[in-house]
Amino acid sequence: MFKYTINGGRILRGNISVSGSKNAVLPVLSAAILNRGTTRILNCPDIADVRITLEILQGLGCEAHLLGNVAEIDASNITCSKIESKNACKCRSSITFLGALVSRTGTADVAYPGGCTIGQRPLDIHEEALRDMGVWLDCCESCIKAERTDTCEDKHVYLKFPSVGATENAMLAAAGRSGTTYIYGAAIEPEIVCLADYLKAIGTEIEGAGTGALKINGRETYENKKVDFTVIPDRIETATYLIAAAASGSGVRIRGCDPSHIAPIVKTLRVMGCDINEDPETNSIELIKGAAHKRLDSPGLIIADAYPSYPTDAQSLILPLLSEARGITFVTDKIFPERFSCADELIKMGAKVRHSECGIYIKGRRRLKNADVNSRDLRSGAAMIIAGITACGRSVVYDNGFIRRGYDRICEKLRGIGAEIRETQHQNLS
Ligand code: EPU
Repeated sequence: MFKYTINGGRILRGNISVSGSKNAVLPVLSAAILNRGTTRILNCPDIADVRITLEILQGLGCEAHLLGNVAEIDASNITCSKIESKNACKCRSSITFLGALVSRTGTADVAYPGGCTIGQRPLDIHEEALRDMGVWLDCCESCIKAERTDTCEDKHVYLKFPSVGATENAMLAAAGRSGTTYIYGAAIEPEIVCLADYLKAIGTEIEGAGTGALKINGRETYENKKVDFTVIPDRIETATYLIAAAASGSGVRIRGCDPSHIAPIVKTLRVMGCDINEDPETNSIELIKGAAHKRLDSPGLIIADAYPSYPTDAQSLILPLLSEARGITFVTDKIFPERFSCADELIKMGAKVRHSECGIYIKGRRRLKNADVNSRDLRSGAAMIIAGITACGRSVVYDNGFIRRGYDRICEKLRGIGAEIRETQHQNLS
């Protein structure tokens, strides 16, 4: 258990840098087993999910380690195609090894993944996609067993919903087929484009990444290549610091990001009255003025949906800001409709929240008050840190390791722009 102690009410100011994307690097780490040589991943975030994935890679026979922000994976020898539950259950993206292992070894035996409890997270779309490609699957009680049957025929895969993970699994399985695979209804998130770029770097032919239709010409065996690959910046980490700055900052410049990836968040903050300057040429975005200068207005409505809509992962993050804005906001999440555990914690800080069947209403009040709260998942943890920074006085966020799963040195970075926050180990005696 970790304890984040925050003395809120400070004005944030200065420069803060964004790390590589968690949700982009994780499937790239799975894909690295297709390359029979060494992959160096630059801009790799040092987060718990990456460390777990490196352990999974070691269990498969790879040499895998992280030095600073460079992950190095030597996948010349894969000695095992089984991932046990003790590792698979620690993160969501372990499921992308299903497609990757089928491509590399022809078989896979992968225990069910874990990940944040943010609602229903079935795997039916992953399974259908692999079956459409001619992969034999046995979904047992504790694991999914897979075996490649055909790799030469052209195959058409239809995803009934643009699931990010299912698109990644389908791409990874298609990369090991010499026939052409067409994937329709694919997710179009920047993380998908990043995975496609890595697969291209090792020799897969891919057209259409970033659109709903992908055409993939893979190969049964990849060469022993030395590949250096740079991961895209984390758009949700960017959103986290931008929203924190909007709540309590003045002149906060976020460096090393891609402003185009968070366009709906910037638009929402501008509607609320924030003054923001995007600078794609220097890969930075600056919060010039926000709630520290004037009371912001409610945007009225936020609908979290698949890219390029407002992201579900940034839905919790904006709740502290909405609870201080003038007016009522209705927030609904079309991807994870029950992802509102953070709202209940915000109530402890004085937020006025009403749950409805398809979302929540937040009525803005003047100021959140400091309190001891819990992080219920990765993004709700980050949201509670934003709330603690905003509220005057000392707040404590108790966290079961969620925040470290997705944020690289969050306290150090926030301290760099003036936040008073420290992380300590906490023994939970209850
Ligand atoms: N879904 C199905 N069947 C499936 C797969 C998904 O019904 O087989 C549904 C889910 O229940 C959900 C929706 O489709 O309602 C979207 O799920 P998706 O598969 O797109 O999500 P994911 O791949 O499990 C990734 C991110 C999440 C992010 C979602 C949506 C990773 C490791 N995780 O999850 O990130 O919320 O996409 O953008 O890439 C986070 O970073 O905090 C996080 C939870």
